[in-house]
Amino acid sequence: MESSGQANSPTEPRTWPARSGYVALAMFSALGAALSIFSSCSTVTRTVVEPLHIEGATFAGNHSCTDCHAAITRKFHASPHARVFVRSPGEATENSCESCHGPASKHVQTGGQGRDKFIINPGKAADACFRCHVGTHTEFRLPHHHPVIEGQMNCVQCHDPHGHDIMKPAGGLAMAQLNQSCAPCHRDQARPFVFEHEAMREGCIVCHNPHGAVHDKLLVQRDANLCLKCHAQTQGAPGSLFIGKIDHAAFVRQGTCWSAGCHSAVHGSNINPKLQY
Ligand code: HEC
Ligand code: HEC
Ligand code: HEC
Ligand code: HEC
Ligand code: HEC
Ligand code: HEC
Ligand code: HEC
Repeated sequence: MESSGQANSPTEPRTWPARSGYVALAMFSALGAALSIFSSCSTVTRTVVEPLHIEGATFAGNHSCTDCHAAITRKFHASPHARVFVRSPGEATENSCESCHGPASKHVQTGGQGRDKFIINPGKAADACFRCHVGTHTEFRLPHHHPVIEGQMNCVQCHDPHGHDIMKPAGGLAMAQLNQSCAPCHRDQARPFVFEHEAMREGCIVCHNPHGAVHDKLLVQRDANLCLKCHAQTQGAPGSLFIGKIDHAAFVRQGTCWSAGCHSAVHGSNINPKLQY
């Protein structure tokens, strides 16, 4: 069964807001064909955001990081962010590292000194990421969200900023690809069950928005709508309401699918194939 794909669709707005507008950020389309677009060098979209600022520093370029951060530089070329760079006249333009870490000339000149002064670490504060990912910022401000803005979590617990797969947490465990970033903190939901709910194979994000949501428990839709996007509801005789082979007309009046003592084991059950406890 295929999901509606809804959980996968929310993406960044493609036009980012112009803030001060004095530096253009050139990048390649984030759409599926990003790589081929890159190799054919045909399509370049340009948007403007205010780049990170470090007092008195200029962009030194990726090459200047190689000597001291060889391991990161080596794997970075496969990251989606390797194609992002800050257009800054007269300064190095192969500067994708600094699009997240800020202009690094002073960090380089001082041989890596000035930790909190000359270089920005977005693992400590997500502001550097929000600079470009405005839509993500909005999601983290929704009523229900992972506590990133509160400083209790950060982006790198779910995203690997340097590797080829940004959806994979750095040093992540070898779990099922889609759910692996959630497992370390939510073992109860991510563990195997005797009676699994096949929905889990499409990943947690088929039901949860990982950043934030208007609905309780980060759910992508509320109430029965969440379940009915995969489980068709059909009308039989007047007054009946079939979900699967069972007439649910009397049940749905008592609450939503997982409340009212019904399919409360939404993530899987060890005792009941109908996902009840
Ligand atoms: C200078 C702007 C900029 C900054 C800063 C930035 N990003 Fe991005 N990010 C982009 C662009 C542009 C893309 C789309 C790249 C592509 O698909 O080719 C992207 C894509 C992504 C994606 C999705 C990749 C995919 O395959 O869909 C994730 C996740 C992401 N960024 C996370 C982060 C995190 C986490 C940070 C901070 C540590 C961050 N970004 C900082 C510009 C930025
Ligand atoms: C001359 C060597 C040298 C060069 C060149 C260099 N760094 Fe560093 N960098 C260091 C050292 C040493 C540290 C560790 C500092 C510490 O532990 O206090 C460091 C730390 C960092 C950190 C972590 C800061 C933190 O707060 O945790 C980042 C990010 C960073 N460098 C990025 C870069 C980028 C991007 C470049 C290229 C533009 C670069 N560095 C070039 C030596 C260098
Ligand atoms: C998408 C934004 C982004 C880009 C682009 C990026 N980094 Fe980072 N970098 C981060 C984040 C986030 C952390 C914090 C990681 C953590 O805490 O685990 C980090 C941490 C670091 C550190 C210190 C921690 C460590 O693992 O040693 C260094 C050094 C560093 N980056 C260098 C670089 C270099 C060099 C490049 C380019 C080749 C680069 N970064 C590109 C986001 C980025
Ligand atoms: C709790 C884990 C988690 C945290 C924390 C997290 N993300 Fe994500 N993020 C995900 C997952 C999972 C996806 C894939 C969503 C999808 O495919 O629908 C994603 C997707 C993205 C995307 C791709 C566009 C989109 O929204 O689908 C961007 C950009 C992004 N994250 C940026 C960030 C930034 C920036 C931070 C930190 C401020 C962050 N994320 C923190 C789990 C997380
Ligand atoms: C680094 C640890 C960590 C990771 C990784 C993580 N979470 Fe969370 N999660 C939390 C914390 C902390 C909370 C907030 C708990 C609270 O507020 O009581 C939370 C809350 C939630 C909630 C809401 C729970 C409630 O009671 O309202 C859901 C749903 C959730 N996470 C799903 C996910 C999914 C899906 C992923 C993977 C994309 C994920 N989490 C990855 C730490 C994590
Ligand atoms: C079929 C949809 C669906 C999928 C897939 C799904 N969840 Fe949930 N999840 C729910 C619903 C519905 C709730 C609310 C249950 C409740 O309130 O009793 C929930 C609640 C949660 C909670 C809060 C638990 C609590 O006791 O408050 C966490 C944490 C969570 N899910 C994590 C995950 C993780 C991690 C994954 C992937 C491994 C995942 N979910 C996959 C539907 C789903
Ligand atoms: C991404 C699609 C998807 C979503 C969303 C989803 N399910 Fe499922 N569910 C499945 C699939 C696939 C099966 C196994 C095939 C079947 O029995 O229809 C299944 C099976 C079940 C079963 C066992 C049915 C049986 O007869 O054995 C129950 C109960 C169930 N789901 C309840 C729920 C509830 C409650 C929700 C909402 C919280 C939900 N599902 C959301 C895809 C989904």
